[in-house]
Amino acid sequence: MKLGVNIDHVATVREARKTFEPDPVKAAIEAEKAGADGIVCHLRKDRRHIQDRDLYAVKKAVRKKLNMEMSVDPEIVDIASFVRPEQATIVPEARKEVTTEGGLDVARNFSRVKEVVERLSSLGIEVSLFIDTEKEQVIASHEAGANIIEFHTGRYAELFNSGGKYSKEIEALAEMTALARGQGITVCAGHGLTYQNVKNVAAIKGIYELNIGHSIVSRSVFVGMAKAVKEMKGLIK
Ligand code: PXP
Repeated sequence: MKLGVNIDHVATVREARKTFEPDPVKAAIEAEKAGADGIVCHLRKDRRHIQDRDLYAVKKAVRKKLNMEMSVDPEIVDIASFVRPEQATIVPEARKEVTTEGGLDVARNFSRVKEVVERLSSLGIEVSLFIDTEKEQVIASHEAGANIIEFHTGRYAELFNSGGKYSKEIEALAEMTALARGQGITVCAGHGLTYQNVKNVAAIKGIYELNIGHSIVSRSVFVGMAKAVKEMKGLIK
């Protein structure tokens, strides 16, 4: 199973002081060297962490795959079209949210999502849609032309972390992964995954890649980025 490392929160720490450190580009290089299969960063409309210059520099620095998280906002779609990351993951974005709170409602925003999928795909960018584990969303993603989907694991993570019953969430992830794989879609998963809770998701057959940010960046404060990435790779193997 592949690991995409999200470096947004390296930039969050830098932006807390509006200074030059820590550098998310350096984090991306170290993560890749330590075995990350891809680097993920989210250029938000509000630019709360990753800045435009980071995206350009990460694109230049990354050797394997840059996966740009983005909304369907026209300005951001133009930037993605210019930067041409290897992959774009379309996520919903609300201004006041602390992080991406739910999956994209592809079914309700179908025509705009399809338009963005088509535009980015025509530029050779692989497009992934970040969705909840719902049949309606899997089918709508397929119809919108996405070859990749990423399931939002936030609800599972919250239940696990609070000692709640999470088995239904894992079952839904497994069931929806099988459904998507049956349609020829590549399945990824992420959000809220940690060193403690990742194994149940990593054990699901058919998931190609996990995208993990906050927990790896948090661990890197104590052990360094290389060790943090290696430890996570070891857990998901
Ligand atoms: N995948 C997607 C689509 C996300 O929006 C995020 C959060 O930026 C992640 C994965 C990583 O989530 P976390 O930082 O909780 O590991």
